[in-house]
Amino acid sequence: MRTLAVVGGGVIGLSVAWRAAESGWSVTVFDPAAGSGASWVAGGMLAPLSEGWPGEDEALEFGAAALARWPEFADRIRAATGVPVFVAEQTLTVALDAADAADLRTIADFVTGHGHELRLLDRPGVREVEPDLARTVRAGLLAPTEPAVDNRALVEALRRCCARAGVHIRAESVSAVDDLDHDRIVLATGAAAARLWPSLPVRPVKGEILRLRHRPGAPPPPRRVIRARVHGRPLYLVPRGDGIVVGATQYEAGFDTAVTVAGVRDLIADAEAVLPALGEYELWETSAGARPGTPDNLPLIGRLTDRVIVAAGHGRNGILGVPITAEAVAALLADEVLAEAKAAEPHRFSEVSAPSSSGGIR
Ligand code: GLY
Repeated sequence: MRTLAVVGGGVIGLSVAWRAAESGWSVTVFDPAAGSGASWVAGGMLAPLSEGWPGEDEALEFGAAALARWPEFADRIRAATGVPVFVAEQTLTVALDAADAADLRTIADFVTGHGHELRLLDRPGVREVEPDLARTVRAGLLAPTEPAVDNRALVEALRRCCARAGVHIRAESVSAVDDLDHDRIVLATGAAAARLWPSLPVRPVKGEILRLRHRPGAPPPPRRVIRARVHGRPLYLVPRGDGIVVGATQYEAGFDTAVTVAGVRDLIADAEAVLPALGEYELWETSAGARPGTPDNLPLIGRLTDRVIVAAGHGRNGILGVPITAEAVAALLADEVLAEAKAAEPHRFSEVSAPSSSGGIR
């Protein structure tokens, strides 16, 4: 049986491992704390259409292809584990001022021009679908096909899928690719990808996020993902059965994952500007993670050598990218290429190469 080492046990590594094991590979995942990094911290938003912007055509089409795979992927997880991972069916981006409203029209024109569905809503239209939003919300952009996922339920479900498929998860770190003697290796170490393969242009982008619990008497969470820009800062509210996830700050701070006072303060203030009743919720958890950023905000999925494949650099869209990445890596393991993942080919960056010093790459 052919052997595969997957380095990194976040949602990307686990889904790659599951898929490969189902295709007949003997798979081992290496991660000292599988599922505990950015995958655990994330909000679970799947919003490539709402985040569309003129000129970013490749990111839109890659994101749309990723989104299209989610319903079937979620069905497979549910069939394997009984776990329903979706927590919302739609996304609503709201505008608090005239400039935001103009941006929503720009996004709508661009994205619908590519054949995807988005609907502009006026003030009463927003109120009708989400009555608890602030009276200052003046317009909205509804994405009827953009759901959200409970990322923590997803992590747990993928671990179970892996276990059922015979994947071994070893709580060990890998310090050099040369240490592994498997037939194939997948690097799925997220923001840390460049530690094992220094030419990969992946850098950590810090994000702080809050988890709020609903309290008796407080208005219920919104039914949809709510996105907004407040004081120039992007904000999202992702419903959960028992509360709301509020995200996320975004800045470059290396691998620091301390939660700052300023981060929490801004997130709460911005969220209250959109959903005033949020102050009645319990502040349950604060956390921070390192998104794996790339220069063009597209991931790196492709072959580095005959033996080594990278699946990293998913930036703000790691959860969104899970099914298409697993499929693209499965194709590479079968010496094929998934056409819809070509935009993520790592050699679009000229600096990506085999490491010069560590050697041993077969
Ligand atoms: N997935 C959204 C974020 O990274 O903030």
